Amino acid sequence: MNSEENKKLKHVAIIMDGNGRWAQERNHPRVWGHIRGSQVVSSIVQAADDCGVEALTLYAFSTENWSRPVTEVKVLFKLLKKFLQKERERIIKNRISFRVIGDIDNLPNDTQNLIAEIEETTKEFEGLKLTFAFGYGGRKEIIDSVNNFIQNNPGKPLSEEDMESCLYRPEIGDVDLLIRTGGDHRISNYLLWQVAYAELYFSQTKWPEFSANEFQCICENFMSRERRFGSVSATDCLGSSKKSAASNLKVLGTK
Ligand code: IPE
Ligand code: IPE
Ligand code: MG
Repeated sequence: MNSEENKKLKHVAIIMDGNGRWAQERNHPRVWGHIRGSQVVSSIVQAADDCGVEALTLYAFSTENWSRPVTEVKVLFKLLKKFLQKERERIIKNRISFRVIGDIDNLPNDTQNLIAEIEETTKEFEGLKLTFAFGYGGRKEIIDSVNNFIQNNPGKPLSEEDMESCLYRPEIGDVDLLIRTGGDHRISNYLLWQVAYAELYFSQTKWPEFSANEFQCICENFMSRERRFGSVSATDCLGSSKKSAASNLKVLGTK
């Protein structure tokens, strides 16, 4: 991969965290933070589209979030449905291709139907690939993918390419930039395979206060980073003339 290719910001993934604490700091119940947080999502989708990002994957509900109080989980379900109803037209108008990854069997039928309908309507759209991770866990995705492969290819060893092609949505690809809001520094079982070489950015801002402006600044910060993918920097490659490499080998006694 050349250095220009390294700098491309194709896939941004976000862990939208901090809703509950944001509300509690203001003496409101946690769900108030979820309501405010859900209102921020469309402005960030727009910002990603404006920045020319190809794929945006948003963590909305993890497999571990099932352990939350039922009332909170129900509010999160309702907010997902409301978001989809409100944003459906805009998604279509902006030629955004929408999908959900994760286990949504426990969502109410009408929400599952709405998701299926938007996925079907937008599946050929060539604009931003917008993915909601809902009922999603990175370990589960890896296990499901491996089992899927074994079932279809009994006895065949699994390669990295095979693995990639068996993920829930192979088309979203590796994550270039992973942003987590809310101040914590962890991955929380998100896109474990796809973040292998992602740049990480942890923001102190709690999700309800995250803005398009901060998103844009983080993207600019990404552009200033050097991604080496285990290699050495481009300038080091140019600087190491054959002559100096040869003399170094001599010092090491290998020549
Ligand atoms: C993120 O906000 C939303 C979900 C996990 C669904 P939290 O609800 O985790 O908020 P904090 O981290 O407790 O503040
Ligand atoms: C991660 O946030 C999941 C989502 C943002 C949907 P959590 O709040 O659930 O993560 P932990 O529990 O702090 O690791
Ligand atoms: Mg949290």
